[in-house]
Amino acid sequence: METPIQTPALVIDATVVRQNIHRLADYAREAGLGIRPHTKTHKSRRIATMQLEAGAVGLTVAKSSEGEVITHPGEDMLLAYPPIGSLRAERLAKLAQDRTVHAAIDSELAMESAAEAARNADSIIGLLVDIDIGMRRTGVATPEQSLALAQKIDQTAGVRLDGIMCYPGHIWEARDQQGPALAAVSEKLAATMELWKQSGLEAKIVSSGSTPTAYQSHLVPQLTEIRPGTYVYNDMNTVHGGYCELDDCAARIVCTVISNAVPGHVVVDAGSKTLTSDLCFPAPDSGHGYLVEYPNAKIISLSEEHGRIDMAACDRMPSLGERVTIIPNHICPCVNLHDMAWWIEPNETPQKLTTDARGRLI
Ligand SMILES: Cc1ncc(COP(=O)(O)O)c(C=O)c1O
Repeated sequence: METPIQTPALVIDATVVRQNIHRLADYAREAGLGIRPHTKTHKSRRIATMQLEAGAVGLTVAKSSEGEVITHPGEDMLLAYPPIGSLRAERLAKLAQDRTVHAAIDSELAMESAAEAARNADSIIGLLVDIDIGMRRTGVATPEQSLALAQKIDQTAGVRLDGIMCYPGHIWEARDQQGPALAAVSEKLAATMELWKQSGLEAKIVSSGSTPTAYQSHLVPQLTEIRPGTYVYNDMNTVHGGYCELDDCAARIVCTVISNAVPGHVVVDAGSKTLTSDLCFPAPDSGHGYLVEYPNAKIISLSEEHGRIDMAACDRMPSLGERVTIIPNHICPCVNLHDMAWWIEPNETPQKLTTDARGRLI
């Protein structure tokens, strides 16, 4: 039977997705942690349903508009992003009418924006105070600042103080070397929670987590839940970081060799509009992804629709028209470039998997 897959195509190995979901679910269950997977990686309701069926306590989204298609009424979602901007806050407050909604904030303005929208929508938004634990992207700097914000939340109608959010996006050490960095996170959370307690406030939810730190989350005993996203598909970032093996990469780009006219090189029909231009964070010299069938090849440059591959280190060359497979460096923005992916179950015809929240940025 001829394959329905035209290239370049994003293909997802269903078996590997299931393994990745269940491996983390088993770990979290043993560690007494909830999982609230970040759905920005797959942007697919179907995969979110698989994660919920495997025991996830809720779902994480980056934007309100993602929440609209990724979560369903009755579910529990976290917007891990400040709801600043009236449209974003209004859409969030509307979602809170028929599901449990939390949002992470690090300013009074974000709190007021959420509170006003919730009051207008006659709903309640639960807030987590975002604390910076070292990445220096968002999050208040000190336990004292977090307390001041928590007290304001506690006294404001329309919002409910639910707890703390942090994101260890700065921790990229090998798993067995993350102890000191995670101990520092634990110390900061403990100091924050103690301060809150002295003022009669409680963090029922303490939400952290990333794919690099996922399996070390037990080293931060304050956590109630973790939010890895990339783990569901994996990519060359997580392979080179040592957090998974090549076989754990569920999402790949199938492409076709379209030129071999330049000696020593081939060109495939996957460029930056298919793969993104992201380099590999732990291995920036490794090129624009990993060519599975030719492991010694290097994808040296991308134009929008061309991927230029240096084959000098390979003992054979792909032929013109041959299909080859690339594991992208960073799968999350790559998925967002594709309206759909092909869902591959063993011995079945590939099915279409729509990228439901593709381009939802508000
Ligand atoms: C706030 C937040 N939480 C969780 C995650 C998930 O981390 P990872 O992609 O390492 O799984 C991200 C990723 O960008 C994030 O920004």
